[in-house]
Amino acid sequence: MSKPDSSHDGTRASNPGRRRFLQSAAAAATLGAAPHLPAEGLLMAQPPSAPASSPSAPPARPLHLTINGRPYTLQLESRVTLLDALREYAGLTGTKKGCDRGQCGACTVIVGGRRINSCLTLAVMHEGEEVTTVEGLATQESLSPLQRAFIEHDAFQCGYCTPGQLCSATALLDEFGAGAASTVTQDVRHAPAALTDDEIRERMSGNICRCGAYPNIVAAIRVVHEHG
Ligand code: FES
Ligand code: FES
Repeated sequence: MSKPDSSHDGTRASNPGRRRFLQSAAAAATLGAAPHLPAEGLLMAQPPSAPASSPSAPPARPLHLTINGRPYTLQLESRVTLLDALREYAGLTGTKKGCDRGQCGACTVIVGGRRINSCLTLAVMHEGEEVTTVEGLATQESLSPLQRAFIEHDAFQCGYCTPGQLCSATALLDEFGAGAASTVTQDVRHAPAALTDDEIRERMSGNICRCGAYPNIVAAIRVVHEHG
């Protein structure tokens, strides 16, 4: 009987290529979780992984954004989404790409105080605007109250949806504080009286968690709303 081929079975950490891959992945994950590393006045060319432009490709132009309080100048084509601009050009990989079509909420960021799906908007539509990503929620010294509550309430498993959940929940608390009604608010002509679990679930319904951490996400948001 021939020996089974184990070269693609995903278990061979002794393979030098795989070991190198794992080392790079671990380094990338650590950087992604760190509060904001680069780069005032950053001027980046096309990322190395970007396909070579065809002669008919739109020309790259400078785009100015303030991301997490820092100025960026990114050189990109008009067809680049805000999500790709953040991840591939600004190097902020905390924002995740799930569906890339507005269905999962993994790419949620806060632009001008409002949460949006960054996969559904072109970066050039946000010239001069302020963007907050998950890297901007913590300070160098401490996590945000929501980040702490997510940890304390076990509000994630794999964590892939978590950056979007955190940005969404951050904006949710501001929206509720400003008196915005939701579709489950009893009388939408008035600010809701309380941020009930139903209100939280409705307001977070654009953020899918395939690990099913919903009860703990709701609990974390409720606690921050009630106790800060
Ligand atoms: S990646 Fe944007 S909504 Fe899924
Ligand atoms: S924690 Fe895994 S998708 Fe939400």
